[in-house]
Amino acid sequence: MSNFSLIPVPSGSLTILPLSQEIAEDSLLKFSLIIPTYNEGDNVPEIVSILSQLLDSVIPGEYELIVVDDNSPDGTWKIAQDLTSEYSQLRVMRREAEKGLSTAVIRGWQVARGQVFGVIDADLQHPPEILLQLWQEMEQGADLAVASRHVEGGGVSEWSVIRRFLSRGAQMLGLIILPEVIGRLSDPMSGYFMVRRDAIVGKSLSPVGYKILIEVTGRGAIRWNGEVGYVFRERQAGASKVTWKQYIEYIQHLLKLRFDLWPVKRFLRFGVVGFSGVFVDLGVFYLLRTVLGLGLTRSAIFSSEVAIINNFLWNDLWTFGDISRRQKGKRQQFRRFLKFNVVCLSGLILNVLIVNFLFNILGINEYIAKLVAIAVVTFWNFWFNLKLSWRVTDSGK
Ligand code: GDD
Ligand code: MN
Repeated sequence: MSNFSLIPVPSGSLTILPLSQEIAEDSLLKFSLIIPTYNEGDNVPEIVSILSQLLDSVIPGEYELIVVDDNSPDGTWKIAQDLTSEYSQLRVMRREAEKGLSTAVIRGWQVARGQVFGVIDADLQHPPEILLQLWQEMEQGADLAVASRHVEGGGVSEWSVIRRFLSRGAQMLGLIILPEVIGRLSDPMSGYFMVRRDAIVGKSLSPVGYKILIEVTGRGAIRWNGEVGYVFRERQAGASKVTWKQYIEYIQHLLKLRFDLWPVKRFLRFGVVGFSGVFVDLGVFYLLRTVLGLGLTRSAIFSSEVAIINNFLWNDLWTFGDISRRQKGKRQQFRRFLKFNVVCLSGLILNVLIVNFLFNILGINEYIAKLVAIAVVTFWNFWFNLKLSWRVTDSGK
């Protein structure tokens, strides 16, 4: 049987389009597994043979393997193409104009015909048999199933302390910058997972570097995700392509997602309402001090509380109006008000702590310190009210 020709490389945006009518009717598959390769000539024959045997035993004829090679100098794409005569489920894409692990995976998904997408490294560091457990998670309805090194049965074989530290450090940084995404996964750095086509179709994906899983979790419609423990094995042939560049790209990716997923419009409204609160606070403080002649501390406390009430009512009506309209009734509104108060009070404490730290410890000018405190607390108040008081689970814009 002759070799299959190479798959034409899609161009343009990295959005996965709905399947054409024709494919949906004639050649729809259950599963499409992408194997991104760069200089994996020694590994490709073995991984293709193992994966074919494994998937033939579970979903014969209903899956495809897609090798996406970035024009490897060692001719990986040619070696893979030659294998297509032996493995009818195997297809190969050779990219000459683009390079990078994450975009390679997405280009593969763009030409895939499966209802479930998967990705696995070509170097056998990801144990292929774990695919069966991931598949079970998908069969039970998960939108995303991730092979994790950080759950029961998971681990890494012979990683240096430095690499363990860097991997965990990267995860911590992710939790600070992007808690709502990184916090959903025990191993956000994993390069081994399955995702339901419908969860990412039509989403404008734009990953940076290696971490395709973070992109899928951040931009995809992932209702629930499953995890399976696995031990990341030592590489037998070839070399890892990870350099310090991947760590820089990871931070870039986190910040890009942070900005894209940050509900900018809601935040601006929150800022406007906060600003109106300053005037209410000052106005009431002036009235209490001059008209009623109340003491300094009592005036300050009363005027702050009136400002908090003002901010709550405008935020409940405007900033989060779409949410509060779904949480009807005075009781619900009062509960939101109490939570808003607690969050703002914690913000007040944080404000005082930051001013004292910057002024007394770092010796920064008190007005600069105050401005920094206001900025940090605005983000703090916005974030915790978004997640607690109005319980916005998806940061819908
Ligand atoms: N097409 C393409 N283009 N493939 C690439 C590229 C690229 O630029 N760079 C790497 N690959 C392929 C490799 O050939 C391999 O099949 C796979 O991507 C992973 O690359 P490695 O260089 O082996 O990565 P690693 O083993 O250090 O890290 C892997 O495991 C980590 C832990 O799960 C990657 O999957 C990481 O993303 C993951 O965090
Ligand atoms: Mn590897």
